[in-house]
Amino acid sequence: MIIAIDGPAGAGKSTIARKLAEKLGYGYVDTGAMYRAVTWSALDAGMDLTNEAALGRLAEQSQIDLSDSKILIDGRNVTHEIRLPDVGDAVSIVSSAKGVRACLVAKQRSLADAFGDLVIEGRDIGTVVFPDADIKIFLTASHEARSERRLNELRSKGVEVEAAVIEKELTARDSIDSKRAVSPLAKAKDAHLVDTTNKSIEEVVESIMALVAV
Ligand code: DC
Repeated sequence: MIIAIDGPAGAGKSTIARKLAEKLGYGYVDTGAMYRAVTWSALDAGMDLTNEAALGRLAEQSQIDLSDSKILIDGRNVTHEIRLPDVGDAVSIVSSAKGVRACLVAKQRSLADAFGDLVIEGRDIGTVVFPDADIKIFLTASHEARSERRLNELRSKGVEVEAAVIEKELTARDSIDSKRAVSPLAKAKDAHLVDTTNKSIEEVVESIMALVAV
């Protein structure tokens, strides 16, 4: 069973997908964290982010490990670092590179074999990675709600940022993610659209659980 959850930043994907996986006893994969890890690695190496071919090679050569709610790239634990604003600013550029996408999509498909039942979240899961997923959800929320959640998420991790910086990052990322040529953020035709603006996490999780039970 594959449950694909897509949507823009701050729509609640990670919290909801993680809770759902926990309740169902399924594996959980945050594909955004994979793009962030490659971005962190590119920044750490001081790479030119306009060099798509080099970014693709970097993704190919990287060993990404997603176990135990941690994210490691080439053995380095970057769980905290990948959430910092410098990675947030660069990740849309890196994830637009064709080679990076081809490589990470292949890794994501192979994770399904490893995990079996899976809740997997991202931007292109229901459209490109698993077009035959058993259940597809597209989460949205108002821009204000998404900015506020992002801000709270960072603050809870001890990262102090101004609301205006987050607003700008979100708007820029939304625009690049939905306009890029390769696998833009889009709702699959057969995905269930869920607006999380005025819903609690529990309510959203329960509504998805009801679809699983059908
Ligand atoms: O889910 P997130 O905000 O952590 O994702 C970070 C970025 O990674 C997002 O702005 C676009 C990219 N991404 C992607 O292109 N495809 C995915 N399946 C997941 C994330």
